[in-house]
Amino acid sequence: MNLIDGKAVSAAVRAKVAEETAELKKKGVSVGLAVIIVGDDPASRVYVNNKKKACAEVGFESFEYALPAETTQEELNALVDKLNSDPKVNGILCQLPLPSHLDENEVINRISPAKDVDAFHPANVGHIMIGDYSFLPCTPAGVMELIHSTGVEVKGKNCVVIGRSNIVGKPMAMLLLHEHGTVTITHSRTVDLKSITSRADILVAAVGKANFVKADMIKEGAVVIDVGMNRNEAGKLCGDVDFEDCKEKAGYITPVPGGVGPMTIAMLMRNTLTAAKQQNRIK
Ligand code: GUN
Repeated sequence: MNLIDGKAVSAAVRAKVAEETAELKKKGVSVGLAVIIVGDDPASRVYVNNKKKACAEVGFESFEYALPAETTQEELNALVDKLNSDPKVNGILCQLPLPSHLDENEVINRISPAKDVDAFHPANVGHIMIGDYSFLPCTPAGVMELIHSTGVEVKGKNCVVIGRSNIVGKPMAMLLLHEHGTVTITHSRTVDLKSITSRADILVAAVGKANFVKADMIKEGAVVIDVGMNRNEAGKLCGDVDFEDCKEKAGYITPVPGGVGPMTIAMLMRNTLTAAKQQNRIK
């Protein structure tokens, strides 16, 4: 088994972003990311703090908008409109989930596609489908970087994605398809999941169930990527893959934490840099 080191791959991506950001600065161009957080969800607070820290490390400005849980849709929309027209803001990210009285789709649709560094806007989703894109959705893009780091080619491989969410499963399948994988998306209604996953040369688990993938579900030597972020009964952070059970059988495997997690933020930094370059017409 080879462990895929998400921290190291993430650090390499962020170092490259920092280098390019310093070059832009010499040309008088700064890079700014606005992060909106509504309410006081503790997990969202941790994510937002990590994103702000990553911005500082690569030399971006970050602008945090921490709104109270009672914020109305009109107030949130007005903030998005303001950020859409602020030239210092190159990227806008609204941390999800939002409190239940707010409409996430309305916010996603309102963020300018040019500043949509999460790549959640339907226009950007459409670009991803066609294969002509500037922003890649952060988590699937991070997974692709991890697969590339193994040296295993996607072309012609059986690739199986467990999970069909808009944020991970569906765009993940598209990125694997663009690299000529033969892709299967499985989900909660899939019949005989094991027969499908055990043929996967590349398996991406994005289910949201602790330790769901066991050794008898994977192929010997497979690349196993774990997008999960769960807590087990003991409250310990764990992925969708039972790491201890699968580690000897997998060819390459990501740990949780230290696998996909650090990549998501690195890709957000890369998207924000891309946004700033496009808005300043820099190649
Ligand atoms: N909540 C969980 N993951 C994400 C993400 O990638 N982006 C945003 N905006 N919110 C999230």
